[in-house]
Amino acid sequence: MTRMDAFRNRVGGFAFGGDYNPEQWDPAVWREDVRLMREAGVNTVSLGVFAWASLEPEPGKYEFGWLDEVMDLLHAGGISVNLATPTAAPPVWLTHLHPEVFPVMADGQPFGFGNRLHYDPSSPIYREYAARITTRLAGRYSFHPALAMWHISNEYGPTAYNEASSVAFRAWLRRKYGDLKTLNDAWTTHFWGQTYTDWDQIEVPNIPRTWMNPARKLDFKRFTSDALLECFLAERDIVRSFRDDIPVVTNFMRFFRHADYWRWAPEEDAVALDIYPDPADPDSHVSAAFQYDLFRSLKGGQPWLLMEQAASAVSQWRLNVVKEPGRMRLGSLQAVSRAADSVMFFQWRAGRGGHERFHSAMLPHSGPDSRTFKEVLDLGRELRLLAPVAGTTSRSEVAILFDWDGWWGLEETAGLPRADFSYPDTVMRHYTPLWEHHHPVDVVASASELGAYKVLVVPNAYLIDDDGAERIRAFARDGGTVLMSFFSGVVDACNRVRPDGYPGAFRELIGAKIDEYWPARPHEEFAVEFADGRRATATWWRDDLHLETGTALATYADGLLRGRAAVVENRYGAGRVVYIATLLERAAFDALLLETVAAAGVRAPFDGLPAHVECAVRESAAHEYVFLLNHSAEAGASVPVTGTDLLTGREVTGEVELAPLGAAVIQRPHPQAP
Ligand code: GAL
Repeated sequence: MTRMDAFRNRVGGFAFGGDYNPEQWDPAVWREDVRLMREAGVNTVSLGVFAWASLEPEPGKYEFGWLDEVMDLLHAGGISVNLATPTAAPPVWLTHLHPEVFPVMADGQPFGFGNRLHYDPSSPIYREYAARITTRLAGRYSFHPALAMWHISNEYGPTAYNEASSVAFRAWLRRKYGDLKTLNDAWTTHFWGQTYTDWDQIEVPNIPRTWMNPARKLDFKRFTSDALLECFLAERDIVRSFRDDIPVVTNFMRFFRHADYWRWAPEEDAVALDIYPDPADPDSHVSAAFQYDLFRSLKGGQPWLLMEQAASAVSQWRLNVVKEPGRMRLGSLQAVSRAADSVMFFQWRAGRGGHERFHSAMLPHSGPDSRTFKEVLDLGRELRLLAPVAGTTSRSEVAILFDWDGWWGLEETAGLPRADFSYPDTVMRHYTPLWEHHHPVDVVASASELGAYKVLVVPNAYLIDDDGAERIRAFARDGGTVLMSFFSGVVDACNRVRPDGYPGAFRELIGAKIDEYWPARPHEEFAVEFADGRRATATWWRDDLHLETGTALATYADGLLRGRAAVVENRYGAGRVVYIATLLERAAFDALLLETVAAAGVRAPFDGLPAHVECAVRESAAHEYVFLLNHSAEAGASVPVTGTDLLTGREVTGEVELAPLGAAVIQRPHPQAP
């Protein structure tokens, strides 16, 4: 049994609860909290996330009495604790004793005190103090009966340009390159005469006069992610050294650019996500769906943890609108539909002071007699009904590539044919039609195993290493279908243009050579004609593409590239490759992508649902759990399906009705069940 299996058994299915900050409240409130948590069906809280100053008010002077009492109270109330190491919020005394723990920004200025995450991850002093409080905490609570999970720090993220960062960066580079010749070569330092003759000459890439060496910048992103990961690993290993059977996690963020979560995920027992879809953005649930698919995929399809979400409004944006009645429930079920095994919130009780005093909570300022608290009670009840679903996951035949190295290459380094690439937007452009047509999608990295998939979507793999490029080629050779968009396979892992014509890594794969990249002028539009006569417009980008083994699925009907291929099809080994060399208007792009998926023999589990109804399926050996989620606040929907609706307990024969913002979770026998 894995640590997460044990955790699931302990909470009886789904973890339900939120961040709990008793250090902000009077002890009388703690008792009321536990009573109301029980009423709401809360079974887990994340405790003490920012409590370092309360636990160690002076260096080496510890006050655990209050936490002992809270742990005991929670345990007596049957509530499990996801106990945090408080190292995301170094106390003010530490920053006074050792101002060098403050992260220095790229311009050389240190951050001031007053927020959180104000540490340089490479600072040996920060690491020493973090290890000390972690050791104390683990020593005291590892065998407390309330302890069910370790929550290491919070949202690892700072990038620092301190002296200590430079020292650690040099050590990281020495490990990676071994000698300076290899580094100089990898960084192309003959360019602009940047050759290094001594390791000590290498600094973190602070602000240069104009442009920064793109390989140095890229390595600094990799280094920063690794430095943060080292902080996590150090604390994880400390808590594990006391006791080995408790799951250890940390919380990640959506589309978070500064940590390569593919490298982090194998190091924890489950991946955990904090996500705050903006209720003012009508499409935020689509980008949320992608995150959920990514988080499930980060650990090879294992269920993940929704660690934080808002019960209603947040407090970090310019306009913080509430979640209208029903939205919080629907968003929670959406995460569950894509294999979340928890619904947790930031936070349990709304704070009275501090920056987040208007952030919503399970228990809002207006108390238990409030819309939000009632919705929380209902959600807790529904999650108990869904208990059989916990621990199950889903299967996909379509995979989409999402890689931090590729993201950094495209957005963190300058000097590309155009400077306005958005990797997340590009990925979402490819994901959205699949989501709208209810295709289950896994997310893969360039180092992932691809054998289980029929279709691989490669949105924009500008930077890909040799191994990743070969995996994609092998996938196609072995009979897979690859849909690839422009500006892929261009540079190697050192951000150097691959030789022998664009796109160096994929010239044979796409069956064409690109002479030049032609970014479009503002407002420039091109007419594209498909082989079957359909026409579309394109913008933003064109490859000046010369077919080799490929054939044109569409050509430009005007402009200087008239007659040249805009979309290429190539047979490669036993596989099929569709390469899109321009930015097609949305309808044409979506149609092409969906036709490519259909031609590969992939069928979505439901055809013909309205676009506002989302469908996702989790499965166990015996059952399928079909989640049907109506995102429209105005329109209902009826969906042809048969089974038991776990939310109502009713048998559904032939058709289920969904109210506006309504949901159903249909359990039916697994078609391949023994
Ligand atoms: C998260 C953070 C929480 C809280 C929340 C507010 O990023 O982990 O502590 O600040 O945002 O939405």
